[in-house]
Amino acid sequence: MKFHIHTYGCQMNVRDSEAVEALLVAAGHVKASGEADADLVIVNSCTVRQKAEEKAVGKAGNLIAAKKTVGLMGCAVKRMGADVFKRLPKLDFAVGPRAFGLIPRIVAEGRYPRLELGEDMVPECLAAHVEGGWQAFVTILLGCDNRCSYCIVPDVRGHEYSRPAREVVAEVGALARRGVKEVCLLGQSVLRYGVRNAAWDESDAPSPGGYKEAFPRLLEALAAIPGIERIRFTSAHPKGCTDELVRAYREFPQVCRHLHLPVQSGSDRVLAEMGRRYTREEYLAAVRKLRDFDPEFAVTTDVIVGYPGETEADFEETRSLMDEAGFDNSFVFKYSPRPGTRSAALPDDVPTEEKERRDQVLLADQERRGQSRNEALVGTVREVIAEGPSKRVADRWSGRDSGNRIVVWESSDAPCRAGEKVRVEILEAHPQVLVGRMAGK
Ligand code: 5AD
Ligand code: SF4
Repeated sequence: MKFHIHTYGCQMNVRDSEAVEALLVAAGHVKASGEADADLVIVNSCTVRQKAEEKAVGKAGNLIAAKKTVGLMGCAVKRMGADVFKRLPKLDFAVGPRAFGLIPRIVAEGRYPRLELGEDMVPECLAAHVEGGWQAFVTILLGCDNRCSYCIVPDVRGHEYSRPAREVVAEVGALARRGVKEVCLLGQSVLRYGVRNAAWDESDAPSPGGYKEAFPRLLEALAAIPGIERIRFTSAHPKGCTDELVRAYREFPQVCRHLHLPVQSGSDRVLAEMGRRYTREEYLAAVRKLRDFDPEFAVTTDVIVGYPGETEADFEETRSLMDEAGFDNSFVFKYSPRPGTRSAALPDDVPTEEKERRDQVLLADQERRGQSRNEALVGTVREVIAEGPSKRVADRWSGRDSGNRIVVWESSDAPCRAGEKVRVEILEAHPQVLVGRMAGK
């Protein structure tokens, strides 16, 4: 069959879709050039906010109307359970986020409708990758046990589970042998790697560098793999910003100097209500630790505006925290109650227009902050991996530095290849982009 996968949501979903693509190709199916050309379309859904879920369900509905074989996978399926067939009566199959390994079998059997919400994941499915490319996502941690008051993820992605370190190391080794230079390790809270399940066997030799924590120890093992030039990871919780983590940043140049560290709020009262398990000051201390090590260290974040009971004073605390932390980038989300979460029992009492206003204020703040953070980099030379021609301006190439900053440069006199490391001298700063000229390869 010719298939197409349409993905909503976070990088975890992007990775799951890629694994499904690899599994379907291995089963003899062919990737279509697009939706119109496909007999089978799979929509990978998100449910973190109500809007995200509606988009995915709406998309599946349109595809069903176009008379395709349609499957829905991902987080929204797990949240809706059997109700998914009430919303989409003609849907062919639906699989939860930990059951995507079953898709090739479901398609082969063709007995529809079918619902699989299962919690079991076959290791081989997690390690399936499509050929080609110099970048790859690698899932190291499934699920989440944090149970923040507003978040549906623990309900849909299940309990936290750390994949055995030897599986992760083998997977990254195999990727490196086929040309992957940059890996991004994925999990809801990657710094908790190995806390829940034994990531390393008792029989494993001690870490050569003496690392005791499972995550820095994993970084050490991955940094030793020839060909892996960059290691990124996301997402993180400030409790994981330990001295051992900073030591790994210092000792392994492959480990990128960027951390996505969702803060959610700058008000201690709201943080406590959310069950985030840190205070404003503890969060800022984690950021300081990273910036004391390297002032150019990039820290990005997620923030929720309009959490139940969020006052103007709480909001101003968030604004001031964001300035103190000096975020290089931030993503702002308007609070959306999710059924079954603790905060869904509270009145959603910040009016939509007020959520919108707070969102806009934080976006404007970030523009200014991003501009001034980036201006400090004018005159520096960034080591960049070239990604491809810039989308906006012809003759320009674009790539990212270690801090995940987008860097753009003129390429007409020095052609680049995707995946190539280049040095770019920065001439101009924008809130989200650095512009420069090639200073060598
Ligand atoms: N409403 C709004 N934003 C949410 N997020 C998670 N749950 C909700 C919710 N119920 C945001 C958080 C998280 C990001 C992925 O989505 O900021 O870090
Ligand atoms: Fe990712 Fe959360 Fe959306 Fe699932 S619900 S796709 S884990 S953002």
